[in-house]
Amino acid sequence: MKIFVIGGGGREHALIWKLSQNPDIKQIYVAPGNGGMDEIATRVHLSVNDGQSLLQFAKEKEIDLTVVGPEAPLAAGIVDLFEKKGLKIFGPSQRAALLEGSKVFSKEFMRKYEIPTADFLVANTPQEAMSAIERGRFSYPFVIKADGLAAGKGVIVVSSKEEAVKAVEKIMVSKEFGGAGERLILEEFLTGQETSFMVFSDGKRAFPMVTSKDYKRRDNGNEGPNTGGMGAISPSPFIDYASIRMVMETIIMPTVFGMAQESRLFKGVLYAGLMMTPQGPKVLEFNCRFGDPETQTIMLRLQSDLLEIFLGIVNNSLSDVDIDWSMNASGTVVLASGGYPERYETGKEIYGLSRGTMMEGVQIFHAGTEKRDSKFLTSGGRVLNVCATAPSLQTVMEKIYTAVSFVSFEGMNYRNDIGVEEKT
Ligand code: AMP
Ligand code: GLY
Repeated sequence: MKIFVIGGGGREHALIWKLSQNPDIKQIYVAPGNGGMDEIATRVHLSVNDGQSLLQFAKEKEIDLTVVGPEAPLAAGIVDLFEKKGLKIFGPSQRAALLEGSKVFSKEFMRKYEIPTADFLVANTPQEAMSAIERGRFSYPFVIKADGLAAGKGVIVVSSKEEAVKAVEKIMVSKEFGGAGERLILEEFLTGQETSFMVFSDGKRAFPMVTSKDYKRRDNGNEGPNTGGMGAISPSPFIDYASIRMVMETIIMPTVFGMAQESRLFKGVLYAGLMMTPQGPKVLEFNCRFGDPETQTIMLRLQSDLLEIFLGIVNNSLSDVDIDWSMNASGTVVLASGGYPERYETGKEIYGLSRGTMMEGVQIFHAGTEKRDSKFLTSGGRVLNVCATAPSLQTVMEKIYTAVSFVSFEGMNYRNDIGVEEKT
């Protein structure tokens, strides 16, 4: 079989690593990929957003299955494009991907299907937003969110009227998040612990993956700016078996059912970002794809064949596929370029990778790296994911931080408290 993976981050490296364990797969292509994938995949220099060229490539190479990693091509309708030409592709259609692509759609959907989420109001104009602020519709702090995809940056927590007015101006008037700022959401601030909850869905049924928790803030102690994710652990310490059932019953199944009802059949990975509140789990956001770096973390625990799961979803036979997970814990620490998520330099040589990779139970997935001759250079904000699996979270984190101590590049920055507070 020939597989084509779209994306180039740590998430895609982990998916390719897992797929490559299937002996039926003779060839994996990846667009655009990264420097760390060369041993297991062939890189293709195409952008994830160039749907027509990706389609052309898949046709020419007679690809058996294409797998989409990031949200932007899904939101742009790449699945519909491939399916129209009779090509197999893993991921939700454009209509289903709206669950992530529009926060207004997703919040109104949750209200309609009584899926627990923060109380909210949609503002279509700055005046509507200002009027809600003036009349004190939400008490402080509350949250203001741009409607569309804003690379995780369109969420602002405001603690005063002044901050609220500024946030509305930023989103709707100066349009700092572009088209995502046509509409916005004002929403109640939820307190509790955050947990990532992903399921495989074939549109009718959904099967939970093991849980995970990601660390979104850049600095130790959950301080500093929000990032794409600085680390993750699995299982999440904040969700037990009873809560998993509750999430499946009150959130996941009504979502899969509701999307089918709306003619937006959800086939792919449904990711619910949850807040575990005193009133039970509530949805912060939906994503229509694998999380990053959660995927790097949990692929180490997946015992079943990933290709079979993907094909089960694409061919509507997911119920026939066994999905087994190891009981071990796992974790990821992201090594980032100095300055990330703001400005950072690239082109720094990376040292010590082979020593880190040689440790038992450790995997290093590349994200922003480039290969030049036999050297690896940094090429992005999040550079490497150092991951491990072991019977206890404590051992996982010891392995990861030992491996991290071997790796270095100029300006390397990482959190050294991933999984620490949860260890005891
Ligand atoms: P989102 O992209 O909607 O998941 O928001 C990004 C991050 O902002 C979340 O992971 C939370 O940490 C935070 N956040 C979003 N909505 C809320 C809320 N209603 N209450 C508290 N924190 C929130
Ligand atoms: N780790 C959060 C995300 O993938 O959106």
